[in-house]
Amino acid sequence: MARKVFIAGNWKMNKTAAETVELCKALKEKFADICPNCVDVAVCPPFTSIAAAIAELKGSNIKVGAQNIHWADNGAFTGEISGAMLKEMGVEYVIIGHSERRQYFGETDETVNKRLQAALKYDLKPIVCIGETLDEREGGKTEAVLEKQIKGAFAGIKECCFKKVVIAYEPVWAIGTGKTATPEMAEETHKFIRKVCAELYGEALAEEAVIQYGGSMKPENSQQLVAQKDIDGGLIGGAALKADSFHDLVKNAIA
Ligand code: PGA
Repeated sequence: MARKVFIAGNWKMNKTAAETVELCKALKEKFADICPNCVDVAVCPPFTSIAAAIAELKGSNIKVGAQNIHWADNGAFTGEISGAMLKEMGVEYVIIGHSERRQYFGETDETVNKRLQAALKYDLKPIVCIGETLDEREGGKTEAVLEKQIKGAFAGIKECCFKKVVIAYEPVWAIGTGKTATPEMAEETHKFIRKVCAELYGEALAEEAVIQYGGSMKPENSQQLVAQKDIDGGLIGGAALKADSFHDLVKNAIA
């Protein structure tokens, strides 16, 4: 079965609730011409703007995700948010292990794995982020780094659960820098990621896995990137913060 394109906007620490209402109103209008059978679309606002986004996007073809989840059900974890809290709000997706979390907040493969288990437990659709730094790419370590991140993230995750997970490959050197991996370079890496998934879960499940690309994807390059055989969509930062650019990026990706 062909994989369905999935594009998600990661708003990071942008948009207050009032700004979220404004952006979602514009998105709802713009995305009316996008066929929901051709692409899944989601936005991931900061926690404080999730309720506003869900209310505003009700009845539209845009889903809402969160940017993180804690592994515990509840308890003394100041500043954290649980799966139950997200689920109750009506959140569908959750980003896990974004490189900014790994870089600035001490996220490791082990915590990514714990958060992934929590997301699955609460029936949220996880978007697990992996990616190498510039030093790692230049040092010829890309494949070793990705393999370790994948095996770490999926430790103990069964086949039935793997099916529910989206992987986002985001080369750290391409995030927010304007430097995109060339479609060929990205495709080669996506192919490698699928190969590692096949080693873990078999060819058939690896073939079905949705693998997004992230890192300076914009309306100008989304078509070429998503046209690659193993690239099934995108995780979008900067270009997701304006209705026009997010819409055009999605439209071009499925053109
Ligand atoms: P960018 O961010 O599109 O601004 O490069 C992507 C991401 O960090 O998910």
